[in-house]
Amino acid sequence: MLKLAINRPDDMHLHLRDGDILKHVINYSARDYGRAIIMPNLVPPITTVEMAMAYRNRILDAIDPNLAFDPLMTLYLTEHTTIRTLQMAADTPFMFGVKLYPAGATTNSDSGVMDIWRVIPLLERMAALDIPLLVHGEVVDPAIDIFDREAVFIDKVLDPVRREIPDLRIVLEHVTTKDGIDYVYASNKNLYATLTIHHLILNRNALLAGGIRPHYYCLPVLKREIHRRALRRAATSGDQRFFLGTDSAPHLSHMKENACGCAGVFSAANSLGCLATVFEEEKALEHLNSFTSVNGAFFYGLKVNPDKTHLVRKSEPAHFPKKVAIGQHDITVFDPGFPIFWHIDRNRDVFEIENNSL
Ligand code: DOR
Ligand code: ZN
Repeated sequence: MLKLAINRPDDMHLHLRDGDILKHVINYSARDYGRAIIMPNLVPPITTVEMAMAYRNRILDAIDPNLAFDPLMTLYLTEHTTIRTLQMAADTPFMFGVKLYPAGATTNSDSGVMDIWRVIPLLERMAALDIPLLVHGEVVDPAIDIFDREAVFIDKVLDPVRREIPDLRIVLEHVTTKDGIDYVYASNKNLYATLTIHHLILNRNALLAGGIRPHYYCLPVLKREIHRRALRRAATSGDQRFFLGTDSAPHLSHMKENACGCAGVFSAANSLGCLATVFEEEKALEHLNSFTSVNGAFFYGLKVNPDKTHLVRKSEPAHFPKKVAIGQHDITVFDPGFPIFWHIDRNRDVFEIENNSL
């Protein structure tokens, strides 16, 4: 029986939604993570510090009182964001970044940025205030093939912005291509990347070969095997520029099993077991702690969580719910396609969650 102790992890890219869905998903994250960077793509988007504070309070209210979890809030960048809002964000201890969604790139991104050059003064101010820019790195031009949108974004948007504002600290979120990984490696400062669990485990065949599998549809979309290999090498390298952001993004199952299905994979319920499996397969368990618990904290100027999470590899697979009930509906939990032998040895079970699961 293999055992592993890591510092309590942080999820540096998480969608929690609001209302009923928030109440049903938050404790999966709060159970396994100390903190998470909370995405602001609600309807309406979180564009002010006041909205972020109200959202943070709704998140805190929904957390099981036995769990300690700190939501690290972000703002949604629009072409109407003001310098005053940025200044307030810099002065507010629970604000950790500003998210760039190219308008139309993904779920609830309609209010995002249409022309990056219009927000350059805002990005300059963010650099001066040391507010990180968290980037959804895909172009939206319909003429660009969806599998190329990340590489083209790096060429046409990210690299020019970095040349213009080298002091801006940037996270290339949910990087999915070898191009993205190579670009991060080639940069010598101020560029970091988060990686999701589903992009480490699946390539695009899982989505499209032998039938279309809507629960594997996410954005950026799954890529070829050569890209997945590059992501796995980077994640398991111990390099401090790469850290975990699950991009766990719950949608009701019927909204994904749909003629026009929503993008997003809900991985919060079994993320750590999946990840330990990846690191074991890559013979890199010694780097799991940097990826889950150290590199992201360092980037955001936080102390590593002092308490430990114990992972135990057993001969029996761990049990995970297949679905999480939400009233008449449900959310489908990420299926990695293999049994997960890594168990999280929690001090305390969260019975409410177990009862809630189908
Ligand atoms: O798959 C995704 N789902 N990618 C995103 O960028 C957004 C997210 C969501 O909010 O559903
Ligand atoms: Zn996301």
